[in-house]
Amino acid sequence: MKKRIISPSILSADFSKLGEEVKLLNDSAAEWLHIDVMDGVFVPNISFGFPVLKAVRKETSKFCDVHLMIVQPERYVEQFKAAGADLITIHYEGNYHLDSTIQKIKASGAKVGVALNPATPVMVLKEVIHLLDLVLIMSVNPGFGGQKFIQYTINKVTEARNMINESGSYTLIEVDGGVTLENAPKLFAAGADVLVAGNTVFSAANPKVMIEQLLKC
Ligand code: DX5
Ligand code: ZN
Repeated sequence: MKKRIISPSILSADFSKLGEEVKLLNDSAAEWLHIDVMDGVFVPNISFGFPVLKAVRKETSKFCDVHLMIVQPERYVEQFKAAGADLITIHYEGNYHLDSTIQKIKASGAKVGVALNPATPVMVLKEVIHLLDLVLIMSVNPGFGGQKFIQYTINKVTEARNMINESGSYTLIEVDGGVTLENAPKLFAAGADVLVAGNTVFSAANPKVMIEQLLKC
């Protein structure tokens, strides 16, 4: 069976005890931690930046999956890598020189991902898919945790899986937004490798058990 990964989004953590929240995840079956950086320009919300990533990095040896929802991400690639990012995912939208930013992330030594908003077709990544470690399919409009899953994005996971298989690359597919025990089986069946889960994990009575349940979907 294909490997499945859960990447809990710390956006839904209790920031007043972030260290404890990260320690709880360290002791869980989640292999990745998802870190949502928002600038209030690319998305209508501001989250956090380098100091929080550095603090998380200090507390964990898990794979730090950094999702940049910011304009001009090329300006900050080295800083995110230095702050502890293992993977840097940028958005397709608004990136006028996508290839150049992809190359910049690769040169930094981080893995590289490209995210697509719900309304952006998968086909826009056809030329660069072989360069990518990850494609992130947004299943909500980016900006906030706890939103409702957009059903039609499941078809985009299938399309991305077909595109990756045709290209022969090892690119992973990650799905981000509104992931629950109800839609997780459909997403894995459609070809997703990594599921981000914020609200579903952190609002669960037992987050560690929830992560295990998501992995078994
Ligand atoms: C939304 C973020 C997501 C968010 C997911 O813009 O990119 O990573 O934290 O949270 P849930 O799982 O609650 O939708
Ligand atoms: Zn995210």
